[in-house]
Amino acid sequence: MAEILDGKAVSDFFKQEIAKEVLAITAAGNRAPHLVAILVGNDGGSKTYVEAKKKACKLVGFEGTVLYFPDTISQDELLAKVNEINDDPNIDGLIVQLPLPKHINENAVTQTIVPEKDVDGFHDINMGKLAKGDNSGYTSATPLGITMLLKYYGIETAGKHAVVIGRSNIVGRPMSILLSNSSETGNATVTLTHSRTQNLKDITLQADIIVAAIGQPNFVSADMVKPGAIVIDVGITRLDDSSKKAGWRLAGDVDFAAVEKIAGKITPVPGGVGPMTVIGLLYNTLQARKRQL
Ligand code: GUN
Repeated sequence: MAEILDGKAVSDFFKQEIAKEVLAITAAGNRAPHLVAILVGNDGGSKTYVEAKKKACKLVGFEGTVLYFPDTISQDELLAKVNEINDDPNIDGLIVQLPLPKHINENAVTQTIVPEKDVDGFHDINMGKLAKGDNSGYTSATPLGITMLLKYYGIETAGKHAVVIGRSNIVGRPMSILLSNSSETGNATVTLTHSRTQNLKDITLQADIIVAAIGQPNFVSADMVKPGAIVIDVGITRLDDSSKKAGWRLAGDVDFAAVEKIAGKITPVPGGVGPMTVIGLLYNTLQARKRQL
């Protein structure tokens, strides 16, 4: 049976580390880091994620603000709000929760956030720096959190074959870059696979590390995994489940029950990558504050 990579416990460890740094900042007479999240509309999942981020901010001593807007907000109104926050010296980090309503161009919004406050790492300048291996920018929170989890467990990536499934700008693509970069949690040989990949199973069977980020529940089956491989499950799809109080449960991209019998180490859903995403975001916001001091 695979060892469980406990994202919840590791995130608690990192929260304590971040809280210590916040205390040092405020003890020196400086204000605490301040993260603002913008949420447009009423998507239940997005609301849960944004509120979890705000709660985590409070826990580590950050100021966390959520600004709610109805899905009738125009793109111009939203961009005006982003610009207002860009100019506010008391705010270090800004994220706009995605997805946005169809009448709003997500790229226009993510490129309007100044790179210095773009703690999601979605701005072209931050993505470009990541691609060049330049650490002065911000890395998307989920891939960053995953590398922190790998590092915590002492999982060697150098020289390993890492197979990333999914090429999204939020997870798959930045994850593939991080794992291939010349860094402590990089130096892997990376294959980035996607919906047009042929013979996917032949490729995943060669993987020492699999990162599944496609958003399709139970996509990675046991016959796709090499015995002993490390399996990182980024999926968080809500599936209807009347036996649960909420009426739904979270499902990962990996068939956990079957794959945990084959893999060497595996992240559960929930309690794996999700809590580490929040750590990635807190880490970036702390850096944003420290860079101003
Ligand atoms: N939607 C799904 N993941 C993310 C994320 O990491 N940041 C933002 N802003 N929106 C998301």
